[in-house]
Amino acid sequence: MRPARSVLYLPASNARAIEKARSLACDAAILDLEDAVAPEAKIEARAAAVAAVRAGGFGPRLGVRINALDTEWGADDLTALADTAVDVVVVPKVEGAAALSEVASRLTDSNALWAMIETPRALLALNDIAASGGPLEALMLGTNDLVTMLRTGPSPDREPLKPWLAQMVATARAHGLLAIDGVFNRFTDTEGFAAECAQGRLYGFDGKSLIHPSQIEGANAAFAPTEAEIAQARAIVAAFSAAEAAGCGAIQIDGQMVERLHLAAAKRILEQHAATDRPSLSTKASHAPI
Ligand code: COA
Ligand code: MG
Repeated sequence: MRPARSVLYLPASNARAIEKARSLACDAAILDLEDAVAPEAKIEARAAAVAAVRAGGFGPRLGVRINALDTEWGADDLTALADTAVDVVVVPKVEGAAALSEVASRLTDSNALWAMIETPRALLALNDIAASGGPLEALMLGTNDLVTMLRTGPSPDREPLKPWLAQMVATARAHGLLAIDGVFNRFTDTEGFAAECAQGRLYGFDGKSLIHPSQIEGANAAFAPTEAEIAQARAIVAAFSAAEAAGCGAIQIDGQMVERLHLAAAKRILEQHAATDRPSLSTKASHAPI
C-alpha cells in the first residue's frame, strides 16, 4: 500500500496553490472541485485541474476530488478526467457501493478511487461501501460535513466522533483499504494539529487530510514509524531469524513475549519506514516517484 500520511487538499480554482503544490512533500495532493470551489468557479476549476494533471510535476500521487454525481457538475468532471492519467479520483458524499461502481465504470483502470465518508448514511453503510472492491483504495473521513450533519458539539478531542473513528479504521482494515483521517481547520494551531494527528495515529489511521502546506511536515512525522518502533521491529525480525527461534511460535525479547504475529507487524513497520524514509521533495532536484 502506498504511503498516505499527508493528503493535501487545494482548490483547483487556485492557480497559485497548484503551482506551490508541485514543490511540497505531501504523499498526495488532491485538487478539489467540490466544497472548496464556489458554484460560479466550477467549470473553470475543472479545466484548471485537467490542465494541471496533464502538466504533471507533483509529488508521489495526485488526485482530483470530483463533485458528487447527483450534482450538475459531477458527470462532466468525470468525463473530463476519464482520459487523463490522474492517480486518484476522490468521490465525495459516498453512501453506498452503487455510487462507486458508477464512477469506476466511467474511468480507466489506472485511476484509484478514494471514497469520502462524510454523511450519517455513509456511517451506516461503511461495510457496503468498503466491500465495493474494484479500484477502491481508501476511505477518507470528511469531518466538516459529518459534524455539521450529525450536529455534534465542539470538543477539542473529537469526543462525539470517537466511535466512528474506530469503526472507520476497523472497516478499512477488514477490506484492506487505507484509512485517512479528516482535516484540522485551525491551521495556525500547531499544538492542536499535532494532538489530533497523534489521536488519528492512535486509532490506526494511515494518514491525515490536510488543508495547508504548514501541516505536511507534522503529518509526515506523526504517521511514520517512530525510531523506537523501528528499533523494536528490527529486534523482532533479528530475534526470529536467529537459529534458536526456529520452530518457535513465541519467544521473549527483553522480558516481553513476542509471537509470530508480531513478526508480521514488525515487517510491515520496516516496509512502511522504507517507503517513507526519503528526502523531502522540496530539497530534491527532481520529482521522481519513489
Ligand atoms: N495547497 C497548496 N498551497 C497552499 C494551500 C494548499 N492547500 N493553502 C495555502 N497555500 C499557499 C498559498 O497559496 C500561499 O502561497 P504563496 O506564498 O505562493 O502566496 C501560501 O501557501 C501561504 O498561504 P496562506 O496565506 O497561509 O493561506 P491562504 O490565506 O492563502 O489560504 C486557505 C488559506 C485555508 C484558504 C487555504 O489554505 C486553502 O484553500 N486550503 C485548502 C481548502 C480546501 O481545499 N478545502 C477542501 C477540503 S476540506
Ligand atoms: Mg465534504
